[in-house]
Amino acid sequence: MKKAIYPGSFDPITNGHLDIIKRAACLFGEVLVAVISNPEKKPFFSLNERLKMVKEAVHGVKNIKVDFFDGLLVDYAQSAKASSIIRGLRAVSDFDYEFQMALTNRQLSPNLETVFLMTDYKYSYLSSSIVKQIARLKGDISGLVPKNVAKILKKI
Ligand code: COA
Repeated sequence: MKKAIYPGSFDPITNGHLDIIKRAACLFGEVLVAVISNPEKKPFFSLNERLKMVKEAVHGVKNIKVDFFDGLLVDYAQSAKASSIIRGLRAVSDFDYEFQMALTNRQLSPNLETVFLMTDYKYSYLSSSIVKQIARLKGDISGLVPKNVAKILKKI
């Protein structure tokens, strides 16, 4: 059974992330959504809040697990016995950053393969920052994030 990791800061999880998770779940035996505990960008939500939002959003999908990690992604992937890293591509603008990350991870761990999945075009403009900005300015975020996340964002 092939296991893949989908890492990210998920600050918060959006429908774009969820779209990638569901696509990956159709391709792999197990998808481990790995929430980074200390991303370089200072997260708005705590690790526990981000984890809870991801867990609720993927609830009911059998082959998806949720965990957190710190340190190097390749070390975590090895300890979790994952053979692939999933990353979503939204637009050409994602490519440079993703290319650098994939090649760095390959240098660190040659057997760990990065697999890129295309986000649905509906989500190609979406990011966690944009969603937080809309929520702060009291805009409509339904359709952009899972229902449990929308509830929380309405209070910020
Ligand atoms: N739909 C919607 N938004 C998406 C998306 C999708 N399909 N894919 C990415 N995004 C957005 C995120 O919401 C986020 O938006 P924001 O900047 O507004 O918050 C942005 O794209 C990138 O976030 P994310 O995918 O969470 O990646 P990241 O850059 O925060 O984290 C890690 C990347 C965690 C995988 C990487 O930093 C890592 O592996 N860190 C561990 C240290 C390590 O091993 N370093 C060496 C490897 S280079």
